[in-house]
Amino acid sequence: MKILLLNASPRNDGATQEILLTVQGALPAQAESELVCLGDVDVQYCLGCKKCYETCRCVRQDGMTALLDKLEAADAFVIAAPSYWADVPAQFKAFIDRCTPFSDTNPNPSHWTLGASKRCYAVALRTGSSPGECQHILDTIAHWCGHMGVEMAGSMYFCGIEDKGDIEPHKPAICAKTEEWFG
Ligand SMILES: Cc1cc2nc3c(=O)[nH]c(=O)nc-3n(C[C@H](O)[C@H](O)[C@H](O)COP(=O)(O)O)c2cc1C
Repeated sequence: MKILLLNASPRNDGATQEILLTVQGALPAQAESELVCLGDVDVQYCLGCKKCYETCRCVRQDGMTALLDKLEAADAFVIAAPSYWADVPAQFKAFIDRCTPFSDTNPNPSHWTLGASKRCYAVALRTGSSPGECQHILDTIAHWCGHMGVEMAGSMYFCGIEDKGDIEPHKPAICAKTEEWFG
């Protein structure tokens, strides 16, 4: 099984990365995994030109092409996003908008689709203490799944997280959840 771990934060050394490294370390030995941080990928904004409604391709040429290839090649995704202003980070929103050539929000019936039977597991985190903001982020990821033909198969969230050191006490629970998802 190929698993793509997508860090939706701009930071590749923060709390989100720490969660995904913990998930990656707890995957079964036979799993093939890759961790990508959106902060390391050139994903430009959607221009809103709707050319992809006609052509099913994006007019922009950047890191999104290779990233979509990785999504296509994976059997499952783990997408982890921190709360930035009570929502997903801008890099992740740009990624979602740029998925339009692949999504059923594209009115062209020949729009590209990801291969069947892909599963997504979502992770949300924030510094504040109430879970509502995390739920909003999980809902955004579930919404993306719904329009991409991907099954939203599980989720977890963490409140009270300022930086990667705060992940340490949660590592046993993250490993247990990874075992539940992929074991
Ligand atoms: C620009 C910015 C906005 C943030 N907004 C919120 C917020 O609205 N609510 C919250 O609970 N935490 C907020 N945080 C805190 C992050 O969710 C928290 O620090 C998280 O661990 C960051 O993960 P990262 O280091 O992987 O990016 C914000 C952090 C930044 C940098």
